[in-house]
Amino acid sequence: MTKINKNYLELQGSYLFSTIAKKVKAFTEANPEKKIIRLGIGDVTRPLTPTIISSLHSAVDEMANKETFRGYAPDLGYEFLRSAIAANDYKMRGCDIEADEIFVSDGAKCDSGNIQEIFGEDNVIAVCDPVYPVYVDSNVMAGRSGKAIEGTGKYSNIIYMPCTKENGFAPECPTEVPDIIYLCFPNNPTGATITKTELQKWVDYANEHDSVIIYDAAYEAYIKDEDVPHSIYECDNAKTCAIELRSFSKNAGFTGVRLGFTVIPKELVRDGVSLHTLWARRHSTKYNGAPYIIQRAGEAVYSDAGKEEIKGLVGYYMTNASYILKGLKDAGYEVYGGVNAPYIWLKTPNNMTSWEFFDHLLETANVVGTPGAGFGPNGEGYFRLTAFGDYNDTVEAISRIQKM
Ligand code: MLT
Repeated sequence: MTKINKNYLELQGSYLFSTIAKKVKAFTEANPEKKIIRLGIGDVTRPLTPTIISSLHSAVDEMANKETFRGYAPDLGYEFLRSAIAANDYKMRGCDIEADEIFVSDGAKCDSGNIQEIFGEDNVIAVCDPVYPVYVDSNVMAGRSGKAIEGTGKYSNIIYMPCTKENGFAPECPTEVPDIIYLCFPNNPTGATITKTELQKWVDYANEHDSVIIYDAAYEAYIKDEDVPHSIYECDNAKTCAIELRSFSKNAGFTGVRLGFTVIPKELVRDGVSLHTLWARRHSTKYNGAPYIIQRAGEAVYSDAGKEEIKGLVGYYMTNASYILKGLKDAGYEVYGGVNAPYIWLKTPNNMTSWEFFDHLLETANVVGTPGAGFGPNGEGYFRLTAFGDYNDTVEAISRIQKM
């Protein structure tokens, strides 16, 4: 008889953004005349920029000719893209990362869910609380989480690192030492950042305890402050303890195009084995490479024109972020994030739970956001708005919220 993977039965509820989508669908069906403004999931709304579109077109044309047609992509990524990433994202920031330490993929969500596969089931993971749910759920599926603890939203074998307003939504290094530490800065969902000096403490901690940091830097393009690192490899000795995840979704608007990459330095060894080798084996076995057309579009992100256009996109969304921050502050809300990140994290008013506020906002202002509790127990009492909306919609949403 076929047996299922019983770990899946430990998952609590459905995936956060699927739950929200279902609620919004039900509301829309019941109220077809209402104009909903979606500031929930961090999905972009600006079209791809001209340089990206033109590189997509020419790559499509190449596929129409026998001489330039491409079949399977190299499973770890085309050299032209890996070199562009190494040069622009790393060497230019003084990080000694080589092209062959970069693994191209179809996005950071998949990578952040899949990376745990190269680690033994008996590792203990530590996550920020609140946290991007994929890190937790993928470890639950793999049987690494222990049992769900009834009524807490937690699992028995996961170390939760509280991120609260008292610690600036930046966790302390835990006293119980984890084997794997998930960090995401600029943070999803709180929009918090940490300085290079603070990140260096995590690197030193991980090296001292032989832990591995999985560093999700999907939002690095939104960093304005000089002392906030764009990559963990800006820290000394990070290559012996850190894996970095990156995305083209949030900077270049590839949420529907799909492209990302993972960096695993060759020096990163645990249990006497190179993690780079393990991930290369995993990637080549389970993945046939991101499409050529898309990788050419990724390369165009690093051209001079591409870089200028991406600055424009990021600037557009950050104008939204500033507008939301100011508009909510003026309306008396307690707000965080939104300065080096496209997320605004607000305290729910009148002691509402975050799901109560979700319903209230949807029904009263017809605005969709994301309840903090969906990101973990310490997200309760908070709410996330995204700056990835259309500017006029964002202005309208804030005006509706101010009238609530
Ligand atoms: C979010 O809203 O948290 C993100 O868009 C989700 C993702 O990037 O997968």
